[in-house]
Amino acid sequence: FFAKAWNFVLSAPTIEALPPIGDVEIAFAGRSNVGKSSLINALTGRNGLARTSNTPGRTQELNFFTSGDGISIVDMPGYGYAEAPKKLVESWNKLIRAYLRGRVSLRRVYVLIDSRHGLKANDAVTLDLLDEMAVSYQIVLTKADKLKTGELERVTDETAKKIARRPAAHPVLLATSSSTGLGMDLLRAEIVSLAV
Ligand code: GTP
Ligand code: MG
Repeated sequence: FFAKAWNFVLSAPTIEALPPIGDVEIAFAGRSNVGKSSLINALTGRNGLARTSNTPGRTQELNFFTSGDGISIVDMPGYGYAEAPKKLVESWNKLIRAYLRGRVSLRRVYVLIDSRHGLKANDAVTLDLLDEMAVSYQIVLTKADKLKTGELERVTDETAKKIARRPAAHPVLLATSSSTGLGMDLLRAEIVSLAV
C-alpha cells in the first residue's frame, strides 16, 4: 500500500459527487489548520499530493487519494474556522456531516487535534456525531515537534481522559509530526491493518 505511489482520485464539493462505493475509506478530519493535508503528504511520502497552507480553510472539498490497492484516503475540509464567510462554513459543515453520517465504506476516521491546543468544543461535537453513528475513530495529536516531551505527555493524558467514555473511540492516542515523521510508521501500519 504505502510502497506504491498514491494518486489523486477526485475532489467532491458536494455529497452527490462522491466516488462510487468500492475502496475502504480512511478519512482525516479536524479543525482548520490542524495539519490534515500535511499528514496525508507525510504518510504517502508525496509532498504536494494534498494541498497545504499556512492559512486555515485551504481544503474546501472532500479529496480522495488512492494507491490502487483498495484503500482510499480522504482529506476533509476543516471545521472551526471562525473567520471564514458564514455561508462557506455552513456548506463545509454540511458536507463533513453528510459524509461522516452516511458512508458505508468509511472504515476509520482519524480526528486530528493540534497538540498545542488539545481537544476543543467543536472537536467534541464531531466526536459526538461519530459516537452516535458508531463510526470508528482515533485521535491523532499533530505538530508534536512544537512541544517538549513533558508537554506532549500532559496533553496526551488530558485528551485520553476526555475521550475515555466515548464508545466509538479507539483508546490509543497517536502523537505525530509531519515535519519530523514521528508516528508515521505506526499510522501506516494501522491503516494497512484496517484495509486487509
Ligand atoms: P485546512 O485544509 O485549512 O483545514 O488545514 P489542514 O488541517 O489541512 O492543515 P495543513 O496541512 O494545510 O497545515 C496547516 C499548517 O500547519 C501549514 O503551515 C503546515 O506547514 C503546518 N503543519 C502541518 N503539520 C505540521 C507539523 O507536524 N509540524 C509543524 N511544525 N507544522 C505543521
Ligand atoms: Mg487541508
